[in-house]
Amino acid sequence: MQKNKSLILGITGGIAAYKVAELVRLCIKADIDVQVVMTESATQFITPMTMQALSGKPVFVGMWDSTIDNGMPHIELSREADAILIAPASAEFIAKLLHGRADDLLSTLCLARNCPLLVAPAMNKQMWENPATQRNFAQLKADRIAVFGPGNGEQACGETGDGRMLEATELLAHIKAHFTPKIFANKKILITAGATIEMIDPVRAITNLSSGKMGYALAQAAADMGATVTLVSGATQLPAPFNVNMHHASDAASMHRIVMENVSDQDIFIGVAAVADYSPNEVANQKIKKHEGSLTLHLKRNQDILATVANLPNPPFCVGFAAESERVIEYASQKRIEKKLPLIVANEVNSAIGRDENQVTLIDKNGNHALARNDKYKIAKAIMQHIQQML
Ligand code: C5P
Repeated sequence: MQKNKSLILGITGGIAAYKVAELVRLCIKADIDVQVVMTESATQFITPMTMQALSGKPVFVGMWDSTIDNGMPHIELSREADAILIAPASAEFIAKLLHGRADDLLSTLCLARNCPLLVAPAMNKQMWENPATQRNFAQLKADRIAVFGPGNGEQACGETGDGRMLEATELLAHIKAHFTPKIFANKKILITAGATIEMIDPVRAITNLSSGKMGYALAQAAADMGATVTLVSGATQLPAPFNVNMHHASDAASMHRIVMENVSDQDIFIGVAAVADYSPNEVANQKIKKHEGSLTLHLKRNQDILATVANLPNPPFCVGFAAESERVIEYASQKRIEKKLPLIVANEVNSAIGRDENQVTLIDKNGNHALARNDKYKIAKAIMQHIQQML
């Protein structure tokens, strides 16, 4: 089993410190161990007790902590970490970092580290825009320190602008990407996700219950693994994955068109979207009025996007999904052969659609590989690793 990643979370003095309480919770859920170190001023904004309760570990603030065995916390803590994240990173702390100063535990840890340093700035927009901060920001990058954000928006001081710390979920996305080996560097991956909506009239449509979660998780996992990812998304309620080129498709025909416009230079194509198999022959211009008796809709077959791509003269490596309600493996295996796919991912509709978790079986020419039930991001990573082995 893979060892959990271990992160030192360094909190400095800023009101955004409240957001990292949530970040610790999210990290632990994502199997990332967190050791919190705070500056004295950070303790004015959030208590060490809160952070200790959430991280499950004692929090370090002072340089002279006698509970650390060799009495050298700046060495000991940083040797155990895979990365140090400073969040929020105040203007003062960033300035201090860049001058290699070490007058408290956190700055000393940063100077003595032998792991990557990640920084999430948080400050008032004037402080952020100040030439001194901008110089420091440029220097952070020159020193190969990863900078997450800052974002733009409403600030605690009532002003609006740049300088806001990223939200906990955004920081987690950056951390996960940082910890993921870049096994798909220089690879281009095109993915479809979500449901298509086939309009019947201006207010009614044929669609399905796909949430898009599996496709979005695959897009995120592939991007985290270093791929250049293009995601063609049907209807979903999900925020765009981070570091992914997004296209939106309303119906099967526009999804087909966008895929064909983007497929020529792709290394891998993964069709996760639940594409409607049929759409109305004609879309009524006006809302259809109800009458006595039944209504007949005439539907035409939509093109199979995945099969079209797999049948191109020089196709990318094509991966399909098969959501079945019965005889899952049998139907999925048939589909793999019919659509000429090297790999298909089979799942049972009730255990997959709309859920955060999934249980899938990967089917290729060598047989079936059942993956344990897990959250969709972890399943996505396992699928991507399988693809990489096949390639
Ligand atoms: O044949 P079925 O629709 O069950 O196949 C599912 C797979 O085919 C999925 O990967 C889906 O994204 C893809 N598909 C497609 N275009 C369609 C129908 C399905 O790309 N019109």
